[in-house]
Amino acid sequence: MRQTVRPAGRLIGAVNLPGDKSISHRYAMIASLAEGASKITNYSTGADCHSTLECVRALGISVEEQGTTVSIHGRGLEGWRKPPEDLDAGNSGSTIRMMTGLLAAQPFESRILGDESLSRRPMGRVIKPLEQMGARIEARENQFPPLVIHGTKLHAIDYALPVPSAQVKTCVLFAGMFAEGQTIVRETIRSRDHTEIALREFGAEIQVSRRVITLKGRPKLTGRELVVPSDLSSAAFFLVAGLLVPGSQLVIQNVGLNPTRSALLDFLVSIGAAIKVQRIESVNGELIGDIEARYAPVRGGIIEKELTAALIDEIPVLAVLGAASEEGIVIRDAQELRIKETDRIATVADNFARMGIMVEVTPDGMCVPGKQKFRAAEFDSFGDHRIAMAFAVAALAGDGESGIANAEAASVSFPEFWNILQQLAG
Ligand code: S3P
Repeated sequence: MRQTVRPAGRLIGAVNLPGDKSISHRYAMIASLAEGASKITNYSTGADCHSTLECVRALGISVEEQGTTVSIHGRGLEGWRKPPEDLDAGNSGSTIRMMTGLLAAQPFESRILGDESLSRRPMGRVIKPLEQMGARIEARENQFPPLVIHGTKLHAIDYALPVPSAQVKTCVLFAGMFAEGQTIVRETIRSRDHTEIALREFGAEIQVSRRVITLKGRPKLTGRELVVPSDLSSAAFFLVAGLLVPGSQLVIQNVGLNPTRSALLDFLVSIGAAIKVQRIESVNGELIGDIEARYAPVRGGIIEKELTAALIDEIPVLAVLGAASEEGIVIRDAQELRIKETDRIATVADNFARMGIMVEVTPDGMCVPGKQKFRAAEFDSFGDHRIAMAFAVAALAGDGESGIANAEAASVSFPEFWNILQQLAG
């Protein structure tokens, strides 16, 4: 699908966005292993989180959906059944990496695969620690999906994460639930901690001290009622749009403000954005609040080290903001971007070239000079949801009508994106 985007006069309004993708995956997977029913409100509408629900169903767990409310009837840690066919993770790295940790401990064999993009993404990062726990996993070329998982009894490990990845951390902790004793995961760079919060919420014993996470095996998980905050990574597109288009004024309600995710807001404020956070409360251990944002010219800055890891999903749209900023944005330590749904350094640079924006690409990031003019262009999402949305935002500041090819990719995390963009941009 080609989506046209016209320059916006300004973005005005208040919106509620769909549920957080990261939290939805975790709630669904943990609920499927808890005892009794869980009711999850504001579950993500994205295709990725529905891939997780389909996997859970295929494992014999009853899942009912009523709009964005999902009820999952778990039967405890031993409640999964051998799936009758292959599990399909679609486009979702979170689904395949986290489910693999759980499947590795089951008393049956399973096979999990994904679409073309997911089939190119590295799984060695989860296979390695799981093998240390005793898992038996076969992968194409030893690292790509499909994965054949010969479920077996696992033992606890003490694992130092070689990459800052919440998916890998979650995979090891999920596997650790099935092992006797304590599984320990050590992080050098802190990654999003939704798993730690969710496991605690469902009743697991989990301690976190100075980037060392300790989980007691064989927890008794109990079904719960949970509310998913709106997705801050989806809000990021509108926050940046509001900073590109003069006169904009937005309120985004009930957004997840978990401190391991909200570095985005701190960064935007540090470069001059006018952002206020209101009505903060804690729901199921996660912080939620309203974000009020107004147009303000931004200076630009450097994204590197821990900051890069903390806002890795927002980098494509921040690169767009960089081109409009006063001094530009430099992105470093972002080699992980090369193994996302697309090589996001390459796909951002390709779309920049289409709109006449200069960028210097480096192996681990890019340097985007500021004060550049945005020309209307024909963009391509390359099948990557965040690239589709980042360049839709760029198009709002263009000098004429732009088009985004393969725009349907946005549905992977945010099917309502085009309608909400239309509503805010008028
Ligand atoms: C996610 C972790 C990040 C992020 C992804 C979601 C998660 O991936 O990019 O969109 O929910 O744990 P990595 O773990 O590969 O960094």
